[in-house]
Amino acid sequence: MKGLVCILLLLETFVFAVQQQVDGGLSENEISQQISSEDRRQNPPQTDTETSTDSQQNCFPDIHAALRELTAIVTEQKANIRALETRLKEQQTFILEELNKKNEEISNLSNLSNLTLSQVEQLRKENKDKQIAFSAALMQSGGGHTGPFTTDITLTYRNIFTNIGNAYNPITGIFTAPLKGVYMFRVSVYGGGSSSTPSTVSIVKNGERVVVAHGHQAGGVVNSSNGVVFLLEVGDVVYVSLWAGRRIFDDQNNHSTFSGYLLFPL
Ligand SMILES: *[C@@H]1O[C@H](CO)[C@@H](O)[C@H](O)[C@H]1NC(C)=O
Ligand SMILES: *[C@@H]1O[C@H](CO)[C@@H](O)[C@H](O)[C@H]1NC(C)=O
Ligand SMILES: *[C@@H]1O[C@H](CO)[C@@H](O)[C@H](O)[C@H]1NC(C)=O
Ligand SMILES: *[C@@H]1O[C@H](CO)[C@@H](O)[C@H](O)[C@H]1NC(C)=O
Ligand SMILES: *[C@@H]1O[C@H](CO)[C@@H](O)[C@H](O)[C@H]1NC(C)=O
Repeated sequence: MKGLVCILLLLETFVFAVQQQVDGGLSENEISQQISSEDRRQNPPQTDTETSTDSQQNCFPDIHAALRELTAIVTEQKANIRALETRLKEQQTFILEELNKKNEEISNLSNLSNLTLSQVEQLRKENKDKQIAFSAALMQSGGGHTGPFTTDITLTYRNIFTNIGNAYNPITGIFTAPLKGVYMFRVSVYGGGSSSTPSTVSIVKNGERVVVAHGHQAGGVVNSSNGVVFLLEVGDVVYVSLWAGRRIFDDQNNHSTFSGYLLFPL
């Protein structure tokens, strides 16, 4: 540190001298005097010989000390730089890891969207399986009465209006639930002609009468209808039964009908 002070003092002296020359036009001699007077000011005179050795002892060994100090500083800075490099590398590694993670997330999301797409496709297919509705009138051609018979019979509605999902079988007249769900059924009965035979049908679920549509009139026509909502398990059957001793009329006007459809699956 002392060495640095020496150098600074010399510099100050020199700058002062130059300033004097510029300001007042000092001669080279005067400058030398100036320098030595500055020197004396800094190092108060003892003896002539002492002054010169003192100045050397004050400055030169201190330059070595300064160099040592500088070396220490440089070493310290080197260590600092190494630490910074290490931290930088750690940060780079961290950033790279984060990037990789993000990439994986994006890849996962892309996979997820693919999964979603295939799921949508699956749902669409499943939804198609859930489209169930039928409607049919009794007579496919001609017209007239069906019945009376000595026992209940299952009516076969042959004039199909719709049969989406083919859950209704027009040959047997039986609807079979293809999936568990809530279904709506309805039946319309037309009784015609002057007769004392009533028109009576039931909507039957798995062999059991559930609702009835009944009409009885000595002369003219009679209409009746009924409907029901069922919770059906897969394979449950629903059909319309004409009661024993009763009859039902139909013709090309499609009076007597049977319809059913899935309200919603469960
Ligand atoms: C990506 O998905 C896999 C499983 O498919 C999981 O183990 C991993 O943690 C996910 N990665 C991210 C970043 O979400
Ligand atoms: C994405 O899916 C593919 C195959 O579907 C699989 O090989 C890959 O590991 C998945 N990627 C992630 C990040 O889950
Ligand atoms: C997602 O599907 C698309 C199109 O089918 C395909 O090009 C892509 O590679 C798939 N992505 C993954 C991660 O499986
Ligand atoms: C009865 O149904 C058939 C179709 O099956 C149709 O052609 C006909 O017009 C219907 N009759 C009346 C009166 O609506
Ligand atoms: C019964 O319904 C038919 C239509 O199917 C109609 O022509 C007739 O007038 C109705 N009869 C009675 C008594 O309401």
